[in-house]
Amino acid sequence: MIILGIETSCDETAVAVLEDGHIIRADLISSQIDLHKKYGGVVPELASRRHIEVVDPLIQEALIQSGCTLREIDAIAVTVGPGLIGALMVGVSIAKSLSYALGIPLLPIHHLEGHISAAFIEHKDVDFPSVALIVSGGHTNLYFMEKKGNYRLLGQTIDDAAGEALDKGARLLGYGYPGGPIIDRLARKGNPERFPFLVPYRSTKHYNFSFSGIKTALSQRFSGRIEKSEGDLSLIQDIAAGYQDAVVGSLVEKTISAVEKEKANNIILGGGVAANSLLRRRIKEEAGRVGVATTIPSPSYCTDNAVMIAKAGVSHYKRKDFASMNLSPMANFEFYI
Ligand code: KG4
Ligand code: ZN
Repeated sequence: MIILGIETSCDETAVAVLEDGHIIRADLISSQIDLHKKYGGVVPELASRRHIEVVDPLIQEALIQSGCTLREIDAIAVTVGPGLIGALMVGVSIAKSLSYALGIPLLPIHHLEGHISAAFIEHKDVDFPSVALIVSGGHTNLYFMEKKGNYRLLGQTIDDAAGEALDKGARLLGYGYPGGPIIDRLARKGNPERFPFLVPYRSTKHYNFSFSGIKTALSQRFSGRIEKSEGDLSLIQDIAAGYQDAVVGSLVEKTISAVEKEKANNIILGGGVAANSLLRRRIKEEAGRVGVATTIPSPSYCTDNAVMIAKAGVSHYKRKDFASMNLSPMANFEFYI
């Protein structure tokens, strides 16, 4: 069974060909970072236009790379939402056209289900029950998974997402978009103890997150200093390290407390922020301390990609969850499973 996966929810156009749920025959991403960089964030209209330009050639290239013809594809999996409406529209429209023309099923995928499915691309034996932390530019969600495909939301951010906090933090430090990888790199050489930040919601009993206060703290404590720093790299590295430490601290503490209270055996990480080197290291250390396993995708499967969308499509295909030609993209789309 061969699934063509298409992802266009934000600023990456991605296409993948997945055979029998585990053989990756093509995995292509066309990033728009250069297009949006000078604006300090993603410009929705530009994103949609670029998706239109590249999605068709990318599908052609994926077919060549996979050695498949269109006729050999059994189903099309596409991200329906959440995301930028114009960007989603491009992927959904081309997926519907292909499904109709080829007479094959259309598999509607929630972007977060895609991020969770990324955990199963490289790991076959995932232990359950698991706690899954999905951290991206738009989401910070903690789920309890009794078994594969079963999701109970434990908590989420009440304001900014973790990725958004890192992106905005990098901007306040004078850097561009996307800020998460920049903070990650700066913090590696910084001293997190020089400028400690309060870990948000540290002593609360619930599993929600909040990152807007810490971003304001960064702006209020350091804005004048950063402007006067005249390229003092070690100052910037130390601030980035303290800031990242608090963001990651909050994610790790809530996840571990959920694991202990809910008696989970495993932690799943997903979403772009799961590519963060400190988060990956801390989660592994803390999981080891409390005696549970971890399932963490390679960094390239944490950030947006189409293999995760095709992978999520496998279970939809098996349970015949097919979309009709009335399928519309949804900018706001609750995780319904
Ligand atoms: O999952 P993703 O690629 O797209 C969304 O669904 O939002 O996540 C993008 C987010 C951005 O906020 C980006 O700064 C962050 O993931 N990110 C990172 C790293 N790589 C990407 N954050 C921290 N450290 C990284 N290495
Ligand atoms: Zn994403």
